[in-house]
Amino acid sequence: MDRIKITGGERLNGVITVSGAKNAALPLMIASLLTEQTLTLENVPRLVDVDMLERILRNHGVDTAHDGRRKGQRLEDGDTLHLTAKQIVDTTAPYDLVSRMRASFWVLGPLVARCGEARVSLPGGCAIGTRPVDLHLLVLEKLGASLNLEDGYVVAKAENGLKGNVISFPFVSVGATHTALMSAVLAAGETIIENAAREPEVVDLGDCLTKMGAKIEGLGTSTIRIQGVNQLFGTRHSVLPDRIETGTYAMAVAMTGGNVLLRGARADLLDAVLPIIKQAGVDVKVENDGIRVQRNGARLKPVKVATEPYPGFPTDLQAQLMALMTRAEGTSEIRETIFENRFMHVQELARLGADISLKGDLATVTGVDELAGAPVMATDLRASVSLVIAGLAAQGETIINRIYHIDRGFERIEQKLGQCGAKIERLVG
Ligand code: UD1
Repeated sequence: MDRIKITGGERLNGVITVSGAKNAALPLMIASLLTEQTLTLENVPRLVDVDMLERILRNHGVDTAHDGRRKGQRLEDGDTLHLTAKQIVDTTAPYDLVSRMRASFWVLGPLVARCGEARVSLPGGCAIGTRPVDLHLLVLEKLGASLNLEDGYVVAKAENGLKGNVISFPFVSVGATHTALMSAVLAAGETIIENAAREPEVVDLGDCLTKMGAKIEGLGTSTIRIQGVNQLFGTRHSVLPDRIETGTYAMAVAMTGGNVLLRGARADLLDAVLPIIKQAGVDVKVENDGIRVQRNGARLKPVKVATEPYPGFPTDLQAQLMALMTRAEGTSEIRETIFENRFMHVQELARLGADISLKGDLATVTGVDELAGAPVMATDLRASVSLVIAGLAAQGETIINRIYHIDRGFERIEQKLGQCGAKIERLVG
């Protein structure tokens, strides 16, 4: 199993190009199930999760093809992926595929919408909290599907097609909003989604579905209205830049000090994040081609943050912020309100010398003068990258084990950081 070795203490200087957002690319790929025509996605990040989802989609009958390299194209430009679901040959998503990536459960809605039936294994995915799927099932039930649980599989049927309805979520769920969108676009009549997720990745999916012929209003607000259509068509869509990757590298630069342009980053997707980084004493400037992050000398200041659904501070940056605050001058408070048990990085950060106490959903971080390198273990995707941030500032050598979690969601992390001066290398095998 690959590991990452970091020798801490180097400042970061240069340019990091932000990739397409994993959390947008995955639902966009799944949307290909809704049409027999070709959906072409540009700026697709090169990630293990994308490869895995391709395998899952191919199993349903989707043809997938990647463009070869084009003249003048750089590795940073992202991948172009063509997905054609001319015929769905299998409406079962088996356990051995779905258990490796939670988001693959989202094939349920579009399969039922297009084929009138689906049999999808209950998911696995990151070990953060219990992460049930009840809200996804609520969507299908509201739209008139019959649901059964058989041997760990959800079996959903709507032989005469789905029918529009009001879906009122008790709390915000990104995935369940994706399911609602992808189910309702082909349902008969009107669907209203109340308490919908407002995340940019939901808007990106909705924009792409609109280009495919769907009729959607209210994207980016809590109430989304969809008028069902009989069929959708192929289109071309570019995946929006990854705000979580952007925030992660911004915190890495904040941690080490230096001056880095995050090329292609969109500041408007980080309204709750950039002010916190600034509050920590870091210089953040929006430039024409991205966001510039700088810190020179000054010690980091502590912050108080609670994670919230968008437009609040994202849970996917909670671990990275905590790593940053381990070196602040004073005490920070970080509350996790979205997922239970999303503090697995705390013990690992403690191995590097961090001073963090946990009480329920609140982490209190008392800054220390120095972190010291040590062997640590990646536990989930975002937690793992918090260890990279800590390792970049720790004295000596940090070895991060089980980095397959990082490869699921961060493209070429060792190259991106390495070319800005970090001493980071992948130990293969
Ligand atoms: C997505 C993101 C993930 C991010 C999360 C919250 C992708 C691929 N993943 O995950 O990176 O951390 O949004 O921003 O886009 N819940 C239920 N029942 C359900 C569904 C969710 O109780 O049926 C709960 C979850 O356990 C959690 C909360 O709702 O406590 C929010 O989860 P949700 O927004 O659904 O997260 P995901 O879509 O799985």
